[in-house]
Amino acid sequence: MSAERDPIPEGSCMSVFPRTAEFDGGRLVAVGGVAVTDLAERFGTPLYVVDRAELVGRMRAYREAFGPDVAVTYGGKALCVVGVLQTAAAEGLHLDVASGGELHTAARARFPMARVVLHGNNKAGEELRYAARLGVGRVVVDSLPELQRLAEVGKASDYTFDVLLRVTPGVRPDTHAYIATGQDDTKFGLTLSAGLAHEAVARALALDRVRLRGAHCHIGSQITMTAGFDAAADRMLSFLAEVRGEHGVELRELNLGGGLGIAYRDADVTLGIGEYAGAVKAAVARGAQAHGLAMPKLSVEPGRSIAGPAGLTLYRVGTVKHVPGMRTYVSVDGGMSDNLRPALYGARYTVCAAGEPVAAEAATAPVTVVGKHCETGDVLARDVWLPGDLAEGDLVAFAATGAYGYAMANNYNRVPRPAMVLVGEGRADLLVRRETLDDVVALDVVLSDGDHGC
Ligand code: LLP
Repeated sequence: MSAERDPIPEGSCMSVFPRTAEFDGGRLVAVGGVAVTDLAERFGTPLYVVDRAELVGRMRAYREAFGPDVAVTYGGKALCVVGVLQTAAAEGLHLDVASGGELHTAARARFPMARVVLHGNNKAGEELRYAARLGVGRVVVDSLPELQRLAEVGKASDYTFDVLLRVTPGVRPDTHAYIATGQDDTKFGLTLSAGLAHEAVARALALDRVRLRGAHCHIGSQITMTAGFDAAADRMLSFLAEVRGEHGVELRELNLGGGLGIAYRDADVTLGIGEYAGAVKAAVARGAQAHGLAMPKLSVEPGRSIAGPAGLTLYRVGTVKHVPGMRTYVSVDGGMSDNLRPALYGARYTVCAAGEPVAAEAATAPVTVVGKHCETGDVLARDVWLPGDLAEGDLVAFAATGAYGYAMANNYNRVPRPAMVLVGEGRADLLVRRETLDDVVALDVVLSDGDHGC
């Protein structure tokens, strides 16, 4: 296991916050050159804050690390909002979308469709027709029935799909079970060991309206060691060699998915982008050489490691409850509706006080930060150390919430979803406006008199 970390920016005392974060003592005072108190006042709380320098810096780091021959494809599911997709497009990235909704967001962002890759283990006919209408660059076929569906939609739409086959390589990375996808026993992909991937090649080659371009795999997410990526690359190159042997075709494209983990807390050790890129490229080159294959046209699909560290969430403290001899609960104005990850995966985050500098910082004390939802499991950070005088009205900041925070946000208890702002060089621009109470009920249909059973 490697100990390389992304470089920790000078002047930042907390490495998991964006590189423009400014601290006074342990307190976050500004990000992107904007005071956090101003952000909270202007846009309200909870507030998702995305640091432009960190976001763009990570996109560029990926492009530099992989070089011009590799298609860096932003895993849009991590944070799929129009402004972020516009940024990714401007930075020359490709885009992975996993549903009609993400595809629609890409269309709204005017993302060049030739650079869009459509995923999904159960794509609806409507989604495939939309993809054909927009002319998406690649469809990643997840199953044998989907191949047939694609051919039918292609025929009806007079469209030929360029496809990759999603191969399940039988690699179980070291990550949470909910986000491991490379093992044989999963809903995703064409299981290599069961012969499904080979069967799909034979069928795809025989179908009209389907042009087989290559293979794809994605072994999971929040992966912090190279071993799984190495093993996956190795199996995929063997697969390409077998395809050449059995079918006489050399598939030229290989997409190795995403999955690079990030540090959520100072002590978390992960791979740097450069180290990850080096390992992936070397593994592919090794496999290609071993099998006498030309180096395939490579793609990767990082989501979390682009959006995650660029984001933070600001909350305002409400009720503080001391249970003598037991625990102090600090309630904030959001919770599992804006960050489901602690409740769903037991994910741990870095949290610190935020606001204006104070003359003398109080000693820290252990507290548990909880949300406002009607659920005991609505815990955002258990047993963390925050200033002992933390009180109603104070701000706190959670680091590294940019990926899979807003993406998995919900309206539990009919709590409106927060706004999101992009900060940089002293300015803040809205990326997503705050939901209103009227937004929350907007889809409900009011029964007319006599229809409600009275
Ligand atoms: N490509 C494919 C086909 C994927 O399924 C995913 C993530 C990615 C790329 C991007 O992976 P990343 O680089 O972000 O690890 N909700 C979970 C994460 C689910 C990941 C789903 N697929 C979480 O909050 O941890």
